[in-house]
Amino acid sequence: MSADFFGELKPTPRLLMGPGPINAYPAVLHAMSTQLLGQFDPQFREYMRQTSELYRAIFQTRNRWTLLVDGTARSAIEAALVSLIQPGDKVLVPVFGRFGHLKVEIARRCGADVVALETEWGSVFPDEVFEKAVRRHKPRIVAVSHGDTSTTMAQPLAALGAMCRERDALLYVDATATLGGMEVATDDWNLDVVSAGLQKCLGGPPGSAPLTLNERAEKRIVARRHIEQGLKKPGDKDGEGSVIRSNYFDLAMVMDYWSDKALNHHTEATTMLYAARECARVCLKEKLPGAFARHALASRALREGLQAIGLELFGDPRHRMTNVTGILIPQGIDGERVRSTLLERHNIEIGTSFGPLHGRIWRIGTMGYNARPDPVYATLDALEEALLQQNFSLPRGDGVRAARAVYGTH
Ligand SMILES: Cc1ncc(COP(=O)(O)O)c(C=O)c1O
Repeated sequence: MSADFFGELKPTPRLLMGPGPINAYPAVLHAMSTQLLGQFDPQFREYMRQTSELYRAIFQTRNRWTLLVDGTARSAIEAALVSLIQPGDKVLVPVFGRFGHLKVEIARRCGADVVALETEWGSVFPDEVFEKAVRRHKPRIVAVSHGDTSTTMAQPLAALGAMCRERDALLYVDATATLGGMEVATDDWNLDVVSAGLQKCLGGPPGSAPLTLNERAEKRIVARRHIEQGLKKPGDKDGEGSVIRSNYFDLAMVMDYWSDKALNHHTEATTMLYAARECARVCLKEKLPGAFARHALASRALREGLQAIGLELFGDPRHRMTNVTGILIPQGIDGERVRSTLLERHNIEIGTSFGPLHGRIWRIGTMGYNARPDPVYATLDALEEALLQQNFSLPRGDGVRAARAVYGTH
């Protein structure tokens, strides 16, 4: 078979306006083409150290343990839960979308006694519900999403953080969909472990998952620390707690690997570390409040545009994420046909939806590199055309005009 049988990679470029992944920042793609280094090369260890420091700023924390889990965002969720949960632990999981169900499923696999609190998709939990549930169930761990892209809702966390701290429960937060785009104040909100991914507001590719954990979580994890037999030195002692039931996601081992001990574990995903470091650098260069404001402005422009052409937004307006928008698919419109028209004729991808929202809403992301005027205008323009094709009556051009008015570029 000839070596170029399939030809070089040359996909038609797409504008990725779904709930993630989105187009990566050019600077991130550039960083990813940097030549590899050995994982214990002092230069590489310095890049690891810098990456921790950059993510401390992004997570708004002073946590010493701020590192990357190698894998997509889900890998850090698994790492956090499998490292925190000892079989039989009571774990409370508020579910307001698909990613709450994911935490229930992972916690059960870890042997937890799970209490799932559910609310209708499109809403979030009031603090009183948490208060009651924490008091009644006395969980060891609470695991919750910040923004759930499946419903486009963002759960306020500050009160829950205070409650967990007061009652000595550990709070794990999945901030995959919000980190770098909405406020995630790890220390101020008393969040014990927080994790994310790169492919949303951080404007990178999927495949690396930043995670931070504080001393409370460290204590629990270190008590379960076991050193691999092949690495053990005389005098090395294992922790008293039960062995963490995953080797790859054993945060005690990952911490040893990231620490000055540099104890061998996995081979760090060099190129993904370069990407993660560059994502954080780009975000901090803009400064966090600037990044949050840019995301909110892009969503506002998109939303004004959608409403100007007669579309209705999904979910509780008080709790919408400011980087992903849910849109009700109008009666009589074939939502999947609209999505394929956008992709095939305009090279624009928007999101479908899951579970109870399947076929009911589209989801459009305005995140990272794409939280800018041009992607918003292009998406609205293409959407107008796709809807007109299905005889949806709309004032052609009003969507883009309304978005331009938000940006002040009439
Ligand atoms: C809130 C949330 N958690 C977890 C994930 C899973 O991320 P990944 O596909 O990178 O594993 C997503 C992806 O959309 C998400 O939005």
